[in-house]
Amino acid sequence: AYGQNMVTLTPSEKPIPISRHIYGHFAEHLGRCVYDGFYVGEGNKNIPHTNGVRNDVIAALKELQIPNLRWPGGCFADTYHWKDGIGPKASRPAIVNNWWGGVTEDNSFGTHDFLDMCELLGTEPYLAGNVGSGEVQELADWVQYVNFAGNSPMSDLRRENGRDKPWNVKFWGVGNESWGCGGNMTAEYYSDIYRKYSTFMADWSNTGGLYRIASGANSADYHWTETLMKQLPKSLVKGIALHHYAVIDWNKKGSSITYTDEQYFKTMKSAWFMNELVEKHSAIMDKYDAKKDVALVVDEWGGWYEVEPNTNPGFLYQQNTMRDAMIAGMTLNIFNNHADRVKMANLAQTINVLQAVILTKEEKMIKTPTFHVLEMYKVHHDANLIPLRISSQDFVWNGEAIPAVSASASQDKNGRTHISLVNIDPKSSQDVTVALSKAQKLQSARLLTSANLRDYNDFDAGDRIVPKAFKGAKVDKQQLTAKLPPFSVLVVTLD
Ligand code: AHR
Repeated sequence: AYGQNMVTLTPSEKPIPISRHIYGHFAEHLGRCVYDGFYVGEGNKNIPHTNGVRNDVIAALKELQIPNLRWPGGCFADTYHWKDGIGPKASRPAIVNNWWGGVTEDNSFGTHDFLDMCELLGTEPYLAGNVGSGEVQELADWVQYVNFAGNSPMSDLRRENGRDKPWNVKFWGVGNESWGCGGNMTAEYYSDIYRKYSTFMADWSNTGGLYRIASGANSADYHWTETLMKQLPKSLVKGIALHHYAVIDWNKKGSSITYTDEQYFKTMKSAWFMNELVEKHSAIMDKYDAKKDVALVVDEWGGWYEVEPNTNPGFLYQQNTMRDAMIAGMTLNIFNNHADRVKMANLAQTINVLQAVILTKEEKMIKTPTFHVLEMYKVHHDANLIPLRISSQDFVWNGEAIPAVSASASQDKNGRTHISLVNIDPKSSQDVTVALSKAQKLQSARLLTSANLRDYNDFDAGDRIVPKAFKGAKVDKQQLTAKLPPFSVLVVTLD
């Protein structure tokens, strides 16, 4: 039992930055994420775009200030040969997207398209390299193509394709899910492969040193993390990944909208498991890296349900209700609270796939409840974590309990305090007391909730679910009190 809803802020002497890269996103060549999501083609006459990228999407993602974008996969990354996606579009080869729906991929959205789009979005690219079916030389060439400023075979080819200056891509994944779709490797074998591939990924330019990220564990595969921490030379690795989805049962994932109360509890339980995962993987990393130089990079997370009826099962298109807002609020609180080790994360996936922040239908676009949580939490980007202690009431189902309330807090560069509080209990409101470390004044309070847990923003109903000013939070000297409605996310700002 977790007890009363009491949060105590315990500011630390030493600053612990919450990296904005925890708020990263993910765009795979999967279903309608890239094609029909981001990219509608240069020739599109119906949807306003810039170089084929939807203008409404650009504006929405700028509003979120997305810090990084991972591409081109996912499982797709280990089948992707980047040279297929450069040069004149008419002569690019078509391939089959084996993992996702068996559709034909015409490679019209390639390296230039993606990296130029990142510039438009003001976000840092995170390229996932192919180590499953690609050669060492191919990945080494990709790094040279995008990052080398001088004359070389690859940078000259880049210039021939219209781009003079390198893009200076810092974040590089060395394979994806190498224990599964990325090659079904053992941790020991992958460690050797990693050492080899990463050696030839040269530090060409002023990226400040490549940030190489090793393909990480599947949820609770602690042996994977332990082996990589033992085997990978620190000079060649900046991050070790982790993938965990909030899923009820891989064989019976349930609807994204008409879930039962039991399915709601199970989703929350799986999302809350992230806390244990982060702590246990971090404890292993601590044994080999007490100084926390290597980051835990949760580069795939989010809710995963059945696809919407009458959509391609390989496209992973699902709706996004208040349940997803609960996953997002709780998970980001977990990441913030472990910001000393979790320095990067990527929600899967940005548009029209899994727990998307944006859904599109022809010329229409909607922002999901998840979008609004990320928008509310952007106050935490690059702020300093204020560690906290929390005791929460239980959210109970059938004798099982998880905490109903989660929280995280930070102080931004202007000295303002931001506290995000989430109540996942679908039925009961929660009275929360936050003990502050000094007398403060309430500056603003914004709440995201809705009339019903299963509500979502739809193409016909528009933005029904949006954050609203909240009157139920009060500050009296060193104490904040708030009555959190059922299934709600609250962000308060204090001066
Ligand atoms: O995000 C969808 C898929 O989930 C990714 O391609 C893969 O890495 C993971 O299994």
